Amino acid sequence: MDVAGHAALVTGGGSGMGAETARALAQAGARVAVLDVNMDGASEIAAETGGIALECDVADGPSGEAAVAAAREAHGPARILVNCAGVGTPGRIVSRTGPLPLEDYVRVVNINLVGTFNLMRLAAAGMTGLDPVNESGERGVIINTASVAAYDGQVGQPAYASSKGGVVALTLPAARELAQFGVRVLTIAPGLVETPMLRALPPEIQKSLGDSVPFPRRLARPDEFSRLVMHIIDNTILNGETIRMDGAVRLAPR
Ligand SMILES: NC(=O)c1ccc[n+]([C@@H]2O[C@H](COP(=O)([O-])OP(=O)(O)OC[C@H]3O[C@@H](n4cnc5c(N)ncnc54)[C@H](O)[C@@H]3O)[C@@H](O)[C@H]2O)c1
Repeated sequence: MDVAGHAALVTGGGSGMGAETARALAQAGARVAVLDVNMDGASEIAAETGGIALECDVADGPSGEAAVAAAREAHGPARILVNCAGVGTPGRIVSRTGPLPLEDYVRVVNINLVGTFNLMRLAAAGMTGLDPVNESGERGVIINTASVAAYDGQVGQPAYASSKGGVVALTLPAARELAQFGVRVLTIAPGLVETPMLRALPPEIQKSLGDSVPFPRRLARPDEFSRLVMHIIDNTILNGETIRMDGAVRLAPR
């Protein structure tokens, strides 16, 4: 799909890979709505991309509904949704202080998995009634963000890994169901990407993480994610798949 002139929603667009995706979409001519709980980041990226910033907690039904309605009001119904919002809060199942508080597990799953589904259902509902844009009958594209932790979850990542595993498992049934409307669904599973999430770690840990990647021996860059997003949007035959973007890294147990 050619993105020029189309409306796009980017969750978590106020930082990291979401911000870079908003930039790439805007550069290609899309009208971008940046949805985030962090309004400072979202407003900055919206100003930079000529888009709009909308406060949205993806894990909350009404908050998602209000943001998608506001984006539609401003830009028309979106043909592109990129779900980047996520949190990586670590926590062992059992630590010195006892079992992981259930609310800690639920919070990560709510943001990463339920939040992805929340925006998917709302964006997809808006896409189904649109006219197709190309000879394939395509109406829209939904791209989710999982993680290699969906496959190689580490100690301390039970919530994160299972939330991202859910995003991977959601991809095929969503693509199968939305196929009748010409809406594609794909997921990207990044490895270790240099975003504020990882830049919060001490430099020596960042270096050792980069050294653990077979090739190229470094952390991935956010623009490598946004370039994959743009390729997926452009290449209509891609559908129902999760693509690892990781330099062949396989995470160690800890
Ligand atoms: N950085 C990595 O190495 C890496 C690796 C694999 C997967 N990921 C995934 O990629 C995605 C983007 O991560 P990033 O590294 O760019 O992180 P980031 O922290 O830079 O950006 C995440 C954004 O999501 C927003 N957000 C958090 N909770 C939200 C909520 N409830 N509603 C709306 N927005 C919310 C944050 O405010 C932030 O702007 C995440 O889903 C993350 O799990 C990151």
